[in-house]
Amino acid sequence: MKPVTAVACANIALAKYWGKAEIGRNLPAVPSLSLTLDALRTRTTVTPDPALDEDVVTLDGRVARDKEARRVVGMLDTLRARAGVTARARVESANAFPTAAGLASSASGFAALALAGSRAYGLALSEGELSSLARAASVSAGRSIFGGWVVLPARAEQAEPLAPSGHFPVAMVVALTRAGEKPVGSTEGMIRTASNSPYYPAWVEHAPRLFERIKRGVLEKNLEAMGPAVESSALWMHASMFAADPPIVYFSPVTIAVMERVRELRAAGVQAYFTMDAGPHVKVLTQSESVDAVADALRAVPGVLDVIRSGPGPAAFVEPGGAT
Ligand code: DP6
Repeated sequence: MKPVTAVACANIALAKYWGKAEIGRNLPAVPSLSLTLDALRTRTTVTPDPALDEDVVTLDGRVARDKEARRVVGMLDTLRARAGVTARARVESANAFPTAAGLASSASGFAALALAGSRAYGLALSEGELSSLARAASVSAGRSIFGGWVVLPARAEQAEPLAPSGHFPVAMVVALTRAGEKPVGSTEGMIRTASNSPYYPAWVEHAPRLFERIKRGVLEKNLEAMGPAVESSALWMHASMFAADPPIVYFSPVTIAVMERVRELRAAGVQAYFTMDAGPHVKVLTQSESVDAVADALRAVPGVLDVIRSGPGPAAFVEPGGAT
C-alpha cells in the first residue's frame, strides 16, 4: 500500500444518459456517448493509513459532507474487499472547475478515485475494470476512465473507447450561467423522472436512435450530421424531467439566451451545437478553429458569468511520482 495520485478529466455526454435500468447495480437505461474534456480535471490522492479509524475525505480542501463521503467510502470498501486489506485511507480530491453545478465533477472525481484507490491498495485493474468500478459509483464516471470519444451501452457494466482524442478537430465551450450548487442532484432527478414522468418511457424508447446518429457522426467526423441529434438528446432528456412531479427544471433565463445565441451563430455559418446537463450551464460543441469566436460570442451574452474552453482530453492517468 502506498499513496497514489491520479488525474481524470470530466466528460460531457453528447448522447445523454438519464435513468437507470437497475438502481441497485447502477446500470444505465439508455446508451450514452461522451467527449472527455482536457480543461476539466480532478486530481485525487489516496493514502491508505492503518492508523486511521475511518476514511477521511476532503473535497477542494473541505471535509466531505456525509452524502458525498458515503459514495467514496463505498468505492474504497469495494477495493479493500478485492485487495483483502482493511486499512482506511485519506482521500484528498481537488477540481480545476466549479463543483456540483452540472459540470460533471462526480464523473472525473470517481474516475480519479477508482484509479488512485485501486493502485494505492495494490490492485492492477484493467481500464474496463476501472470503468466498471467508477460506473458503480456514478454512471457517467465510467466514461471518464477513457480519453476522447467514449460509448457506454445501455445496461453495460463498463464504457468503451470509440475514438481517440485527436480523431476529429472539435472543441467545447462551457458557458457558466449561475453560481452555486444545483438544487436537485442528477441521481435524485433521474430516479424521480423514471418514477412518475409520463415522458420517461418515451425517452428510453427513443434515446437510442439519437445515440446511433451521434455515433455515426463521430465515426464519420461529421459535426453537421450529428449536431442536431446532440441538441435533441439534451432537449428530450430535459423534456422528460419537465414532466416529472414535482417538475425538475435546470434551465435559467441565461441558459435559454445562450441556446439562442448558438442558433444565431449557426445562422451566421459557424458550426456550433449546444448540450446541457443537470445544471443551468450550456456546453457548446464546435470545430476547434471556431472555438475563440464561439467563446467570445457566449461571453457577450448578458448573464454569462464565465466561459471555459476545452479540447478533447486524455484517459485517466497516475501522476508521475504517485503521491502528492
Ligand atoms: C445529465 O452519472 O451523475 O450528466 O449514476 O446517479 O451518479 P449517477 O448519475 P450521473 O448522471 C449524469 C447525467 C447527465 C448525462 C450524462 O452525463 O450522460
